[in-house]
Amino acid sequence: MDNKHYNAAYLEDTEKLLLGLKKSSYEYLSGLSAGKILELGCGTGSDAIQLAQQFGEAIQVIGLDHDPELLVLGREAAKKSGLKHLEFVEGLAEDLPFPANSLDGIRAERLVQHLQQPKKVLEEVHRTLKPGGKVVLVETDWSGLNIYNSELEIERNLVDYLTHKRVNFGTASREIGLLLDGLGFRNIQWVVKPFVIHRLDAANKYIMFDKMLMSATDEGFLSQEECTKYLTLCKRLDEKGLFACSMSMVTYLAEK
Ligand SMILES: C[S@@+](CC[C@H](N)C(=O)[O-])C[C@H]1O[C@@H](n2cnc3c(N)ncnc32)[C@H](O)[C@@H]1O
Repeated sequence: MDNKHYNAAYLEDTEKLLLGLKKSSYEYLSGLSAGKILELGCGTGSDAIQLAQQFGEAIQVIGLDHDPELLVLGREAAKKSGLKHLEFVEGLAEDLPFPANSLDGIRAERLVQHLQQPKKVLEEVHRTLKPGGKVVLVETDWSGLNIYNSELEIERNLVDYLTHKRVNFGTASREIGLLLDGLGFRNIQWVVKPFVIHRLDAANKYIMFDKMLMSATDEGFLSQEECTKYLTLCKRLDEKGLFACSMSMVTYLAEK
């Protein structure tokens, strides 16, 4: 299991923030009228459920994840929704339990950034998609985090920690295009969508801002004094309505 820094509650919170982005990513698969769609790294299963609701019974939706605890929540929600053309499978993205050329669409959100072997997983995506099948990958641009205050060095160290230490493949959002190209995917497109968060409590909820600072300090990317100083500054700005941070999500679309 990866050294994960997300849990079911975090995934539910971010779901609300990312609603519009998620809907656009489902749209890309909307030309499909039959076959199978895989939601890879499905977590608590909410995107798999949305896809199953959106596509109707002609499409079989499969949610796959390596975390059995998250899959329990997905299976419970699927049972409540009564959807028959939806199933959840425990498995590894590095070794997909599907034959070659068997899937019509694959969607993965905030998965590739956590992988130890991203190229291997994208090879599996290519192997299992049918010719003409579509892939949608949504990733966080960790290295593009901006926190709007004057402490640039602390910000740089924090971003460095996020991109190169905390997240296994923190530059995924910037590298996936060429990886897809190298594997022979066609019609590669990408969309960069920035988000701005204006309150410290929202930053703590959606990007775990306070936890990020603490762990960057524990890992030696910031000193205890820098961490305290930075939190104090952010709180002061927040009290005056002057706190903001921004970050982009990047969606890649491609065909086999
Ligand atoms: C940040 S969560 C995102 C979950 C979901 N896609 C969403 O957007 O809410 C990353 C998910 O990928 C899964 N995951 C990470 N590495 C995996 C692997 N090698 N094989 C299968 N699932 C994996 C995790 O268990 C987790 O559910």
